[in-house]
Amino acid sequence: MTLTMTGLGSEWWRSAVIYQIYPRSFADSTGDGIGDLPGITGRLDSLKTLGVDAIWLSPFFTSPQKDAGYDVADYCDVDPIFGTLADFDAMQKKAHDLGIRVIVDLVPNHSSDQHVWFQEALAAGEGSPERDHYMFREGKGPNGDLPPNNWESVFGGPAWTRVTRPDGTPGQWYLHLFDSSQPDLNWQSEWVRAQFRDVLRFWLDRGVDGFRVDVAHGLIKADGLPDYTPPETGGSMGGSGSGNVGLEPAISDHEAVTPPYWAQDGVHEIYRDWHTVLEEYEGERVLCAEAWVEPLTKLARWVRPDEMQQAFNFTYLETPWSATALKRVIDTSISSFATVGAPSTWVLSNHDVVRHASRLALTAENPQGAGIGPKSAGQPDRVVGLRRARAATSLMLGLPGSAYIYQGEELGLPEVIDLPDASRQDPTWFRTNGEKYGRDGCRVPIPWEAATPGYGFNTTGASWLPQPSDWDDYARDSQLDVPGSTLELYRTALALRSAHDLGLGALEWITDLGPAVVAFRNGAITVIANVGDVAIELPVGQVVLASGELDGASLPGDTTVWLLAQ
Ligand code: NOJ
Repeated sequence: MTLTMTGLGSEWWRSAVIYQIYPRSFADSTGDGIGDLPGITGRLDSLKTLGVDAIWLSPFFTSPQKDAGYDVADYCDVDPIFGTLADFDAMQKKAHDLGIRVIVDLVPNHSSDQHVWFQEALAAGEGSPERDHYMFREGKGPNGDLPPNNWESVFGGPAWTRVTRPDGTPGQWYLHLFDSSQPDLNWQSEWVRAQFRDVLRFWLDRGVDGFRVDVAHGLIKADGLPDYTPPETGGSMGGSGSGNVGLEPAISDHEAVTPPYWAQDGVHEIYRDWHTVLEEYEGERVLCAEAWVEPLTKLARWVRPDEMQQAFNFTYLETPWSATALKRVIDTSISSFATVGAPSTWVLSNHDVVRHASRLALTAENPQGAGIGPKSAGQPDRVVGLRRARAATSLMLGLPGSAYIYQGEELGLPEVIDLPDASRQDPTWFRTNGEKYGRDGCRVPIPWEAATPGYGFNTTGASWLPQPSDWDDYARDSQLDVPGSTLELYRTALALRSAHDLGLGALEWITDLGPAVVAFRNGAITVIANVGDVAIELPVGQVVLASGELDGASLPGDTTVWLLAQ
């Protein structure tokens, strides 16, 4: 069977490899321990060398940084810790000069409690138009002492906080699906919709190529805000991350009961509206949904032709290292998105999940990790993890569609598990009283040069999260031009992917190589991933990429090769 994405158009985003920059951990030009925009500008050449088509920057906007910038206090300015708007312009110009597109992060579900809109809502008082910009409600119980419903924050604890009136008496409650410093905006309000059209235009006018849309499944809540108790999911980020509370386990085929705060039909008219805003601009601008929605057939609604262009495929990210599961999710992904004419996307790591060089070696008792620390069950083996990560990436980059790479994965970085408790900063850690480690372990500043302060992240060695002492071998300069290094594996895969146009290609399964093998042809390239632990005989062909050492004509377990048709 051939699963094709051809004939759907050739816009850049259908096949792009998009590199996620987490600004605070990428490169720090000031030496204060937090990465910044000039730091990014100074390192863009290395991304050209890597071979990516676009970068997506996590938020660098004005923010008290209670959730690492996903608590925005001004959507149209740069936080001083990251630089200035002029620094953004300079960074974007350099990227564009290098032929790299720029996607910024839009956070519409909630603002910071320090945003002037929220401060005005507090000051204006109950029943005012300003209060209607957020989700204020009266409490339950005789004195309104109980929250309006039983919803829980994704980060832990109740999703409601009560405000105090100027006279000191307790007042209304406001909804925050994430931290209490992140009040949810009221997307039933036309005023809110108008503000965000302006935000889109502000950045489009500045020349950005698109937006990654945070919590794109959460903007509309069910009428009446009914109580809801999510089922135990037992896996994934378990609520430590981006809002996948209450989802079915990965690769479920049926729709789970939809929580009243996720995936409500009303979100789609918002994205249809934004689609028309983007269409006012030249140059194939894009919207990419961060929507933890399953099954994939439902997620495909976010990328109908008049809505967004892409949606992150978190079902793929959460798929276990199993040939059966991988084949199934690839099939379902391509066919689900094809029904609406959209490409599938592929992703293995980001700033919310355990890095895949560690996650893929977690044991069954703790399959997704939900943030791992020294006391977590099922500690991963570093060698096994890296081996699988290299094989998994080599499989992913052979697939048709668009792929996302998270900074540092091209270096083979593992999760930092042994961060001292005192250094942890994720609100998940605080809101669960240390029960969940959260996401700091995948956010540690990345290493550029071995044997230098901060591994070249800056020149002072300061780092907002401590870097491990054994990262010299992961540093970029330890790997550049070194045959067999993870960086060279990524560079080779990206160069071949581009040369053979794999992103716009078609997938044809090869089924006769055994049950532990995922194999397919995509144009001139044949991808063979041995997901098991027993070596298999390699078919005849010219090996142009190998994720690990080959033993003659046999392909060891946890290894992927690409063969070029003769
Ligand atoms: C998803 C983002 O990726 C995550 O980092 C953030 O904490 C939540 N959304 C809330 O904005």
